[in-house]
Amino acid sequence: MAHATDTKSTETTRRDFLMLATGAAGVVGLGAVVVPLVSQLAPDAQTVAAGAPIDLDLTPIAEGQAIKLFWRGKLIFVRHRTKKEIEEARAVDVATLKDPQTDAQRVKAGHDQFLVVYGNCTHLGCVPLGNAPGDPKGDFDGWFCPCHGSHYDSSGRIRKGPAPLNLPVPPYAFNADAKIRIG
Ligand code: FES
Repeated sequence: MAHATDTKSTETTRRDFLMLATGAAGVVGLGAVVVPLVSQLAPDAQTVAAGAPIDLDLTPIAEGQAIKLFWRGKLIFVRHRTKKEIEEARAVDVATLKDPQTDAQRVKAGHDQFLVVYGNCTHLGCVPLGNAPGDPKGDFDGWFCPCHGSHYDSSGRIRKGPAPLNLPVPPYAFNADAKIRIG
């Protein structure tokens, strides 16, 4: 039900250990402490309407850590994957996947450690768990959607449960070793 989904999303959002609202073309840095950046970085209404790109410095995201941010009103996950997570994602037989995509198709060449995906379950839009320390990551070291039990792997691909598609990859590019522009 839409209401239940909204409630779950809200609860999940509150649990987030890092939640960022980013401003247009603003470089976002992350500290070890949760810092509400909403007021400083929230773009003005015109910028939001224009859907301007945002720049993100990935340097503060430690290996194994993930963050959330919003772009064009949509939730995005950025994960700094561990070597184990990358190896697991690469070892998958793509032919067995519901939405067949290689891991290489979902990351930028030379930056395999960073995965950038939209953060809403492709079933009914809940926010999957797997970013905060201690969160369940599902059976495939990625994300677990508690609403109806979808499991995504460390490449954000749907591996188990009712979700029909992988978590989509938004348009982005690296403009420096550890800096990306989304949009
Ligand atoms: S919304 Fe149904 S499994 Fe995620």
